[in-house]
Amino acid sequence: MKAEQQATTDLRIVGDLTVLRSKIMDDAEADYSWRVDPELAGLDATRPVTLTFIEYMRYHRDDVNYPSLWSVRIAIDTLDGRHIGNCMYYDINPDKSQCEFGIMIGDREYWGRGYGTDVVKSALKHIFTSTRIKRVYLHTLIDNFRAQKSFARAGFNKVREVKRDGYEFVLMEVHQKDWTAAHPEEHPTTADKVLESATSTAPTSQAASEAGSNLRQHQTDADPLPGS
Ligand SMILES: CC(C)(COP(=O)(O)OP(=O)(O)OC[C@H]1O[C@@H](n2cnc3c(N)ncnc32)[C@H](O)[C@@H]1OP(=O)(O)O)[C@@H](O)C(=O)NCCC(=O)NCCS
Repeated sequence: MKAEQQATTDLRIVGDLTVLRSKIMDDAEADYSWRVDPELAGLDATRPVTLTFIEYMRYHRDDVNYPSLWSVRIAIDTLDGRHIGNCMYYDINPDKSQCEFGIMIGDREYWGRGYGTDVVKSALKHIFTSTRIKRVYLHTLIDNFRAQKSFARAGFNKVREVKRDGYEFVLMEVHQKDWTAAHPEEHPTTADKVLESATSTAPTSQAASEAGSNLRQHQTDADPLPGS
């Protein structure tokens, strides 16, 4: 748990257009406005959150204070510090050395201007150089062409189409070996132990465990798809 907390608390990745950083309490208001937005929820194949802001704050506080071993939530800022969205890697599976990736640029002013591609590139670099994860995959709705194009530009390849819960998705993936071959200048670091931590350590904090399960219980509709 300590390794995971250390890793996620210290997260700061500067790209060409964006900064990826750890979640903080001040993110709550923007996050909530994006979570209750029906269009954004629809693009994520979920339903909008129905919690009040006060209720949402409770889960947000738990998320910030008790990071999960199995998912890493990350805020997206512009280079000048404007919070425009979030991404996460989750369903971290130590046995398969893989995880799922999700992204939401909530601020529509920043769609279609290269920010998403920059985020995905930074996130893949972080995952493949700082964790033991070897495969990252994602599901995106079959008609979300902007997302598919952005993911492909950042290195994801289409695997197949997947039908689930009445939705049609495109499953995309990227393997570390292919990413490394395309980025020979990048070298692994040892700073982050995400997968090692998830492999070897059950949550040491009861509160952390409860926070995670409470959030899942109450936000099922807003949670990402389970892994393939
Ligand atoms: C999906 C998302 C992360 C993509 O980030 P982005 O910053 O908007 O995308 P980018 O500008 O980096 O790249 C989009 C690409 O799609 C193209 N594009 C933009 N709008 C498009 C559209 N309506 N149809 C097809 N292609 C489109 C752009 O031209 C660009 O391709 P190019 O670089 O070859 O020109 C972002 O739009 C977002 O978060 N949207 C809302 C939530 C969402 O859809 N999340 C994904 C759930 S899986």
